Amino acid sequence: MRVLIDADKCQGHLRCMGLAPEVFDCDDLGYGVVILTGPVPAGSEQLMRRCAANCPEQAISIR
Ligand code: F3S
Repeated sequence: MRVLIDADKCQGHLRCMGLAPEVFDCDDLGYGVVILTGPVPAGSEQLMRRCAANCPEQAISIR
């Protein structure tokens, strides 16, 4: 599983960072970025789905 943020959709709500700061951070402009370089660690899949579901802009995708 990999998690991505669509930069065209992200509006900087940062709920993702609040839920999973080990995976998401914000850039200098306050938009969300994925800091995880590889696949989502085992056991974090449900948390990633929750992050995606909680993004008001539906900017987070999971593959
Ligand atoms: Fe952006 Fe959604 Fe996170 S708007 S900062 S991806 S909660």
